[in-house]
Amino acid sequence: MGVLASGRGSNLQALIDAGRNANFPAEVVLVLSDKKNAYALERASLAGIRTGHLAPKEEGFYRKMGDEIENYGVDLVCCAGFMRILPPEFVNRFSGRIINIHPSLLPSFPGLHAQKKALDAGVRVTGCTVHFVDEGVDTGPIILQAAVPVLPDDDEKTLSERILTYEHRIYPLAVRLIAEGSVRCIDGVVQYTESAFPESKGFISPVS
Ligand code: GRF
Repeated sequence: MGVLASGRGSNLQALIDAGRNANFPAEVVLVLSDKKNAYALERASLAGIRTGHLAPKEEGFYRKMGDEIENYGVDLVCCAGFMRILPPEFVNRFSGRIINIHPSLLPSFPGLHAQKKALDAGVRVTGCTVHFVDEGVDTGPIILQAAVPVLPDDDEKTLSERILTYEHRIYPLAVRLIAEGSVRCIDGVVQYTESAFPESKGFISPVS
């Protein structure tokens, strides 16, 4: 995996930790950031992973980023709090090989402040989504979602924290499914092998 991150990098850490497990079929080999001081870069350095910073104002920013990813033999690009909209040239270059995590049950609440949007909308269930990246903002084909209840006293912080614990679970899980060939994206459609679906359970929120 090559990971693109702009901030604290807790999802990056979840991917790094998963990759250290001998049974996990992928590992983070490269972390790139558009922010020089992103804590994600420090996490990567601490883990002995190659890092790179590219200045978005530089000419050919996305071309250089793509070259770096290709030169490093990355199979899957994981956006983990990368705060930029990837342009078509980049998305097409790695078509079907870029994924993102978003803190809502897409297609609800795309874009920034997804947790606040969920609170403002008064939903009782929200969550997080891992999806393939297309040219839109958080619009790509959905791979995996976790549903998380919204509790009566939640504010943006408490809800974000609850969702984040599930982000850290489903991001490595999505990577595992892709790396094992249980899921793939063909012509914008996500296809699963049957074995990826265990017995399904729903839940009611609030529970009475
Ligand atoms: C996460 O909530 C992720 O879903 C969103 O940005 C946040 C990044 O957090 N895209 P972190 O940098 O992984 O801690």
